[in-house]
Amino acid sequence: MRSVPIIVFVLISTGVTTTAGKVPSQYQKSWDAAASPYKQECIEETGVNKSYADRLFLYSEYHDDDNLKCYLKCLCERLEIVNISSGTWNKNEILKHISGVTDEIYKTCSDETQDESLLCQKCFDLSKCIARHLNDATN
Ligand SMILES: *[C@@H]1O[C@H](CO)[C@@H](O)[C@H](O)[C@H]1NC(C)=O
Ligand SMILES: *[C@@H]1O[C@H](CO)[C@@H](O)[C@H](O)[C@H]1NC(C)=O
Repeated sequence: MRSVPIIVFVLISTGVTTTAGKVPSQYQKSWDAAASPYKQECIEETGVNKSYADRLFLYSEYHDDDNLKCYLKCLCERLEIVNISSGTWNKNEILKHISGVTDEIYKTCSDETQDESLLCQKCFDLSKCIARHLNDATN
């Protein structure tokens, strides 16, 4: 039985579609609402598959897709979550716009993403990290 969680983990982490797990629905809805003012322009800017953009927050579906990663960067930029010129996180805006994020989750996810220099990937990783921790926190 001990090997089961490891197998599950490997399958999840190598899958094309990665779900961050069961993020509480109040956060899923809140993140979707925070993104909504910029959704249309970011879909147009990145050419992301609309169904990926629709399902990203509401179903916690993090497809390994370059356009989707840049869609997240577009949202981060609009919400001023990332400083585009320095590539650093703006903690105050993250706490303000992303409901459920605590100081501790911010610290963990900021450490986890600090070495990533590609902004699309970095925004994707931050979002996924937050979703993962809120999932962990409530299970
Ligand atoms: C978008 O993704 C959905 C679900 O994977 C797929 O069925 C659809 O064909 C895709 N649309 C485009 C334009 O690629
Ligand atoms: C973004 O980073 C640049 C370079 O480090 C800095 O000069 C600028 O003040 C930062 N902008 C904000 C809004 O923090």
